[in-house]
Amino acid sequence: MAEKIFLCRSADMSNGTMRQVCPRGVDVELALYKVDGKFYVTDDLCTHGMVALTGGDIEGTTVYCPLHGGAFDVCTGKAIEKPCTTPLKTYEVVVESDDVYCLYDE
Ligand code: FES
Repeated sequence: MAEKIFLCRSADMSNGTMRQVCPRGVDVELALYKVDGKFYVTDDLCTHGMVALTGGDIEGTTVYCPLHGGAFDVCTGKAIEKPCTTPLKTYEVVVESDDVYCLYDE
């Protein structure tokens, strides 16, 4: 069953930014993105290699890996630029007042 995990306050992030979050009780690093006032959460580890996507760039809803330039859609996790082909795991986001949570399931 998914667990609701607090990530940050909405106002703490600007639009068009991303950050790595490592919540207590979660054994992988997550990537939190804010695009046009909406939040998205995926695994932070690129599915092509051992590198954090939050070290790369975000343009709109596309995150670019810093290592080989592969890319993913942060809304769906779909790999949209080679060499990435395996999708990223995504997590449902819940915003309550100013608090941003994700529903984490392993
Ligand atoms: S490690 Fe991310 S594209 Fe290769």
